[in-house]
Amino acid sequence: MQIINTVSALRLALKHQAKIAFVPTMGNLHAGHIHLVTLAKQQAECVVVSIFVNPLQFGAHEDLANYPRTLEADCEKLKAAGASIVFTPTVAEMYPDFDGVNLNQSMTITPPAIADELCGASRPGHFSGVATVVLKLFNMVFLNGAQQCFAVFGQKDFQQLFVIKQLVRQFNLPIQIIAGETMREESGLALSSRNGYLTAEQRLQASQLNTVLRNIVTKLKANHTNFDALELEATAILNAQGWIVDYISIRSALTLSRANSSDSHLVVLAAAKLGNTRLIDNIEFLR
Ligand code: PAF
Repeated sequence: MQIINTVSALRLALKHQAKIAFVPTMGNLHAGHIHLVTLAKQQAECVVVSIFVNPLQFGAHEDLANYPRTLEADCEKLKAAGASIVFTPTVAEMYPDFDGVNLNQSMTITPPAIADELCGASRPGHFSGVATVVLKLFNMVFLNGAQQCFAVFGQKDFQQLFVIKQLVRQFNLPIQIIAGETMREESGLALSSRNGYLTAEQRLQASQLNTVLRNIVTKLKANHTNFDALELEATAILNAQGWIVDYISIRSALTLSRANSSDSHLVVLAAAKLGNTRLIDNIEFLR
């Protein structure tokens, strides 16, 4: 496995690769990421994993400075998982006009309006930052002569996956997007790098987020049609348990717009804070 820090070295290493599967990450890898690498390996022998904590997708008061950076352990896991190349660029490498303080990335992607809802409502600019860095990474990984391009993203970040699919569609990118199922602890808690912020006590409590989502799914499958009531009830349950709920929302899985009673392919999404840790989860299902 090669560890590469510069775009030029990456391009050189990928020059003769006709088929590439790519897994973009921000590091601090857990079993969920390794599952994505396994899916990538099913598509191509050459698997590139990027590790880059992207400043452009963090708000001013978010956890950019404290975001866990565990490069050595990450590389060990990726080697064991069979990755071919780990791409770990610096901020200056990713943002050529970075002056040590400002990124100066004056050209950015404007995602569809749906990116201003759900997580986008409390994280303004987040999905623009995600879409912009993902497009840059796609250019670095795939624009070296590859004929078959695959990129793998986790379904836990359902809204992110939706935005990336739109990016690929609307910019006519010849890249097949593969969605990796959410990996969970036995309790139901979705694996996330941010779980590491939880205290032992909060960790025991954290599966409550998944529990309320599962309850909503059960009720929707039993033909409950008062979506607002289900969202409000789940919000009240979590708030009473000490969470601060950002949103719980029943959406069409196809458009991410608010679901109506005729939609059969649904996704229930949630974001909520336990102490200072913001967790997200979702369940996609047919009814
Ligand atoms: O999901 C993530 O880890 C990040 O948002 C991504 C896709 C690597 C872009 O920075």
